[in-house]
Amino acid sequence: MGSSQLWGPNRVMRTWQLWPLLVFCTAASFIDEAKKIMENTALIDGHNDLPWQLLKQFNNRLELKEANLTLLNTTHTNIPKLREGFVGGQFWSAYVPCETQNKDAVKRTLEQIDVIQRICRKYPETFKCATKSSDVKQAFQEKKVASLIGVEGGHSIDSSFGVLRALYHLGMRYMTLTHSCNTPWADNWLVDTETDKPESNGLSPFGQRVVKEMNRLGVIIDLAHVSLKTMQDVLNISQAPVIFSHSSAFSICAHRRNVPDDVLKLVNETQSLVMVNFYNDYVSCGAQANLIHVADHLDHIKRIAGSGAVGFGGDYDGVTRLPEGLEDVSKYPNLIAELLRRNWTEEEVKQALANNLLRVFEKVEEVSRQLSLDSPEEEPMEYQKLEGQCRTSYGYSVSTGFRSLPGILPSTLVLGLLYFQLA
Ligand SMILES: *[C@@H]1O[C@H](CO)[C@@H](O)[C@H](O)[C@H]1NC(C)=O
Ligand SMILES: *[C@@H]1O[C@H](CO)[C@@H](O)[C@H](O)[C@H]1NC(C)=O
Ligand SMILES: *[C@@H]1O[C@H](CO)[C@@H](O)[C@H](O)[C@H]1NC(C)=O
Ligand SMILES: *[C@@H]1O[C@H](CO)[C@@H](O)[C@H](O)[C@H]1NC(C)=O
Ligand SMILES: *[C@@H]1O[C@H](CO)[C@@H](O)[C@H](O)[C@H]1NC(C)=O
Ligand SMILES: [Zn+2]
Repeated sequence: MGSSQLWGPNRVMRTWQLWPLLVFCTAASFIDEAKKIMENTALIDGHNDLPWQLLKQFNNRLELKEANLTLLNTTHTNIPKLREGFVGGQFWSAYVPCETQNKDAVKRTLEQIDVIQRICRKYPETFKCATKSSDVKQAFQEKKVASLIGVEGGHSIDSSFGVLRALYHLGMRYMTLTHSCNTPWADNWLVDTETDKPESNGLSPFGQRVVKEMNRLGVIIDLAHVSLKTMQDVLNISQAPVIFSHSSAFSICAHRRNVPDDVLKLVNETQSLVMVNFYNDYVSCGAQANLIHVADHLDHIKRIAGSGAVGFGGDYDGVTRLPEGLEDVSKYPNLIAELLRRNWTEEEVKQALANNLLRVFEKVEEVSRQLSLDSPEEEPMEYQKLEGQCRTSYGYSVSTGFRSLPGILPSTLVLGLLYFQLA
């Protein structure tokens, strides 16, 4: 082992050990300044999995004493912590695992949307249910937390434009095109690690129509979790800017969930937004990380794509490991103080806190208005491309309907059964 190899890790260790000192030495001025800015421009976070915790820990029973969001202490998120962190807007994730694809994904998505709506209404002194950019601004005025819905994973629409539109009407304002699995119309990031096989080579023609319909409805397109080719395809065709609701910078940590520099350039060109994920594994590419690492991601994205492209998507309550200094949602001011220490201007900090997301949201709304005379997408996914045994074939031609019967049944038995039913 050469001495240069020893020097590298040692240097890293020393930086890690120094960071609390750095923060302490500069805390007095920068923390105060951070909080002063955040009092007027609260932070909008792109991705929080508290709804998933409410399902896992309480099966969505909000009446349970332990599920009281003021007292909740088994999560990264609760009401006092949101207040301490100056959170003024939150996209709550309506996440359902890839396992539900072709099973009960739609039902579970509806249930997660329902639990988000219920927490918002149960604590009206804290939350303001929001579906428009103007609602978010109103929440800022009222010193409440704008409560928004993001659906994590295109499998939640079950390849149906009808479901996509229904979710929009229930308040979904972003949809992540894939989680960590392909849909029949878009490839996910595991294709880039060769864990999954490409199926659509990015976005399929059906996927292009999903993007078009999201532009028409006014649903923000989220490219966290998608493959590189899907990112490029969407950035090329979307008429509105997009977000990465919880992704970091690939140049700082070469993880395929992060955004590479050539895509950051497209983000700049399209006035899109990357909301940085705090998960240690995406931040430092290791199990350990601290807030200095996260600030490095923010600095890098700012350098390549501009201060208009930076935001926060902590992934709280969706991850098992978080950086030192950013352990829960009360800690955001520490990070803002670090950006100020790095000479970010007040204007740049405000962009990252809220103004970039508001800009994207307003543009998405404007594009939707411009497209309001377009007809809704109607052409369904081909029945043959749908997998699983759960679907009936109503509306499709009868011959394809036989596909819903288990393939192992000999055709004679199938015919026999049909004859029996007709008789
Ligand atoms: C967490 O909250 C529960 C009540 O919901 C309480 O019994 C428990 O003592 C609390 N734990 C801590 C560490 O505060
Ligand atoms: C949650 O607990 C707090 C503190 O005990 C209490 O004031 C509040 O009414 C409770 N909220 C709900 C919705 O049960
Ligand atoms: C971008 O989309 C246009 C069609 O809208 C297509 O002609 C072009 O090849 C695409 N470019 C890339 C780099 O995918
Ligand atoms: C990003 O795009 C804007 C125009 O939208 C431009 O002014 C800026 O220089 C670009 N690059 C960076 C790194 O900000
Ligand atoms: C911030 O700006 C000051 C004054 O221009 C400079 O001395 C300092 O090195 C800068 N700090 C960083 C972290 O770039
Ligand atoms: Zn995620």
